[in-house]
Amino acid sequence: MYILGIETSCDETSAAIVKNDKTILSNKIASSLNLHKKYGGVVPEIACRHHLECINYVIKEALEEAGVKFKDIDLIAVTHGPGLVGALLIGLSAAKAISYALSVPLVGVNHLYAHVYSAFMSKENKVRFPATGLIVSGGHTTLVSILGYNKFKLIGQTRDDAAGEAFDKAAKVLGIGYPGGPEIEKKAKNGNPQAIRFPRAYMEKGSFDFSFSGVKTALLYYVTRRGHPAVGRSNQGVPIGDTHATINDVCASFQAAIFDVIVDKAIAACKKQNTTQLFVGGGVSINKTLQDMLIKKATPEGIKVFLPAKGLFTDNAAMVAAAGYRLYKEGIRSNYSLEAEPNLGIG
Ligand code: KG4
Ligand code: ZN
Repeated sequence: MYILGIETSCDETSAAIVKNDKTILSNKIASSLNLHKKYGGVVPEIACRHHLECINYVIKEALEEAGVKFKDIDLIAVTHGPGLVGALLIGLSAAKAISYALSVPLVGVNHLYAHVYSAFMSKENKVRFPATGLIVSGGHTTLVSILGYNKFKLIGQTRDDAAGEAFDKAAKVLGIGYPGGPEIEKKAKNGNPQAIRFPRAYMEKGSFDFSFSGVKTALLYYVTRRGHPAVGRSNQGVPIGDTHATINDVCASFQAAIFDVIVDKAIAACKKQNTTQLFVGGGVSINKTLQDMLIKKATPEGIKVFLPAKGLFTDNAAMVAAAGYRLYKEGIRSNYSLEAEPNLGIG
């Protein structure tokens, strides 16, 4: 089967052609990321206009690169939530129009499922149910129990900021650019993660929920009280004190506070559910420190960590197409009343 996947939930306009569930023939992405840089976060209106301008070209390029014609397409898979409502509507309208014009079935895909599917996609990855899924992105920090291809159960999620969002906001406070995750990772490589003890929020005993607003605020206080670490002086012009933390130390310590909690909870979730496979996806999981920490903690417990292949960590349509294929095989079909669901959860 040739599946056309379409993804427009946030700032990436993406179209892909995937053969069955794993063979990616094309995966085109037009990102509006650069247009949001000066605002330090995604501006929905700008993202939507960019989707409108790009969607037809991106689909055309995906077909051309794959060497596939519209008439060859067997299924359209489209993200219908969660995400920005205006952005979702653009992908959804394109998908419905193509499905109607070609008389091929349409399947609506949950963006969070698609991120987990990105880790299913490597040839050697064979999922055995039940497994555990971890989605760490700009919009989500979510743990799921994977009971079947279309049967995900929520185990825990963030109660405030997502991990990526916390990185983006922290980078704004530190004035080191957007998106924050890659910048913080770069600086953290040369920093000491133990230099500053930022708080770790584990919530109530046994909870798999997350909260990153506290660590974000702690960073803000740190910078206001002690001064911007790049300058080395507080706002009052007083030298930073006896820790002499550099901006690299601040980034490494901030990153460590966030990843300690994510790693502990992800492994605890696998153990609680007696699963030996952890599938990880989303933009933050591209971070090498997070990957190493997860593998280091999982391996002695007999848990194997599966990560997406290069290019599949951040938002892309190939993962949507792959999820659409599996859902179709499970008998799922959407009709043209399929709606954009900005707050679509796991259920
Ligand atoms: O999955 P994604 O492309 O979009 C959402 O669905 O949200 O994730 C984007 C997020 C941003 O917050 C960005 O700062 C974060 O992923 N990110 C990273 C890294 N690269 C991107 N976070 C930590 N380390 C990175 N290297
Ligand atoms: Zn995403």
